[in-house]
Amino acid sequence: MIKISPSILSADFAYLARDIQAISTADYVHVDVMDGLFVPNISIGIPVVKCIRPVTDLPLDVHLMIQEPVRYVDQFCDAGADIVTCHVEADTQENILAAIDKIHAKGKKAGVVVKPRTPASAVLPFIDRVEMILVMTVEPGFGGQKFMADMMPKVQEIRRYIDAMNPGCELEVDGGVDPATCKICVASGANVLVAGSAVYKAADIPARIRELRG
Ligand code: DX5
Ligand code: ZN
Repeated sequence: MIKISPSILSADFAYLARDIQAISTADYVHVDVMDGLFVPNISIGIPVVKCIRPVTDLPLDVHLMIQEPVRYVDQFCDAGADIVTCHVEADTQENILAAIDKIHAKGKKAGVVVKPRTPASAVLPFIDRVEMILVMTVEPGFGGQKFMADMMPKVQEIRRYIDAMNPGCELEVDGGVDPATCKICVASGANVLVAGSAVYKAADIPARIRELRG
């Protein structure tokens, strides 16, 4: 069963409650948090997560594109995040492991994310400690970029690691996923698809979500 996690980065922030209710047939709500340091863009943070928590029953899938995420994971969990993913490039291995422990201590699911130039093997120190691995299929920072099909061997490699070491772990892809590119992601082993522009630019959002789910 493929899960769809629409990215609200492509929503209209002036009508965020409306745009979150529009994706009620999805599986998760993907929330992109950017600090202007880890990525060259600034998006939304803890107060927004807190405000959107009561407007949906869907789990909030919070993608932290921030330096040293261990500093803030408790606050994102308290604000209502259900899944919190941290980039392996954002701090030392020790501190990323500490962030994962903090997320678990709050009773939430933890994950790690790899940027396009980071090899699959970078997830190995974390794989038996996480519920999700996210592979970026664009450089993080902006919605609406072109899908990097050359990330598929990495998705396949991480699928093999997951099947061997932590079969319950979810494998998510993020960036440029649309009704065409979703197929190769699923064929490569992803089971959660993030889609921002492909969902929010659609005339019929529930139909687009069904189309992506395949
Ligand atoms: C990029 C974000 C993505 C982005 C995806 O840094 O992590 O979640 O919103 O947007 P699309 O689906 O438009 O590429
Ligand atoms: Zn994202």
